[in-house]
Amino acid sequence: MLSVKGVGIKFGGLRALKGVTFDVKEGEILGIIGPNGAGKTTLFNIISGLYTPDEGIVLFKGKTITGMPPHKIVRLGINRTFQTTSLYFNLPVIGNILITLTGWYRGSIFKALKEKNGEEIFEEAMKLLKFVELEELAFTPVKNIPQEAQRRLSIAVAIATKPKLLLLDEPTAGLTLEETDKILEIIKSLRNNGTTIALIEHKMRFIMGVSDRIVVLESGEVIAEGKPEEIVKNERVIKAYLGESYVA
Ligand SMILES: Nc1ncnc2c1ncn2[C@@H]1O[C@H](COP(=O)(O)OP(=O)(O)OP(=O)(O)O)[C@@H](O)[C@H]1O
Ligand SMILES: [Mg+2]
Repeated sequence: MLSVKGVGIKFGGLRALKGVTFDVKEGEILGIIGPNGAGKTTLFNIISGLYTPDEGIVLFKGKTITGMPPHKIVRLGINRTFQTTSLYFNLPVIGNILITLTGWYRGSIFKALKEKNGEEIFEEAMKLLKFVELEELAFTPVKNIPQEAQRRLSIAVAIATKPKLLLLDEPTAGLTLEETDKILEIIKSLRNNGTTIALIEHKMRFIMGVSDRIVVLESGEVIAEGKPEEIVKNERVIKAYLGESYVA
């Protein structure tokens, strides 16, 4: 579904990514792990069109998307969440979904209303909120809901554009085990509905449990790729990231 080929990017003197090559296969959950500063978020920024790489290409369903503006990439079927929640905090929960949906139905509210009536868009927003179990908070300002609920809302906003490939950047950072389980359920049901997922995570038990395959980045390079059971045994990964004391 997605091919990243020889991707590199520099920020001043820092080579944040070099020669990064891997695929995301249709229907899978691909885990992306690596130490802080390894380049994981930068990789998502390139795939989603926020950054243009200095070298290499990204192909989505066989077509180059490198250098395309982010909104076009969203239209093609890729969307993402951000490591730091990016929501309209003063708007009610449902407002965040409605903004995305009206934009999605042709870029302006007037065109959106022409194509779909207001009630249809509202219903669709409520359906998305139900999926992430936020319908009861629909009219609460985002700033007044817990961080964990904000994370679920970010996922709902991202899937409002019906992505075929969803990129999740540390969706459970700072959450408790119980809260993490809720996100896990959402990720699993998205996958069961046919969404392909690339997932950046630091929580090892979580990523090892949910991923079909894992790519490991260190200092901007892919140092390992394989099934979770192979990754936990990989000497280089243990040294660079997991630590000698990691018990699978
Ligand atoms: N826009 C930018 N300008 C300058 N440097 C950047 C920029 N974006 C990322 N970097 C640098 O690139 C490197 C990789 O950063 P990135 O955020 O991709 O790491 P990460 O793997 O996501 O780390 P973390 O696990 O902490 O989120 C870091 O050294 C970071 O400071
Ligand atoms: Mg990051």
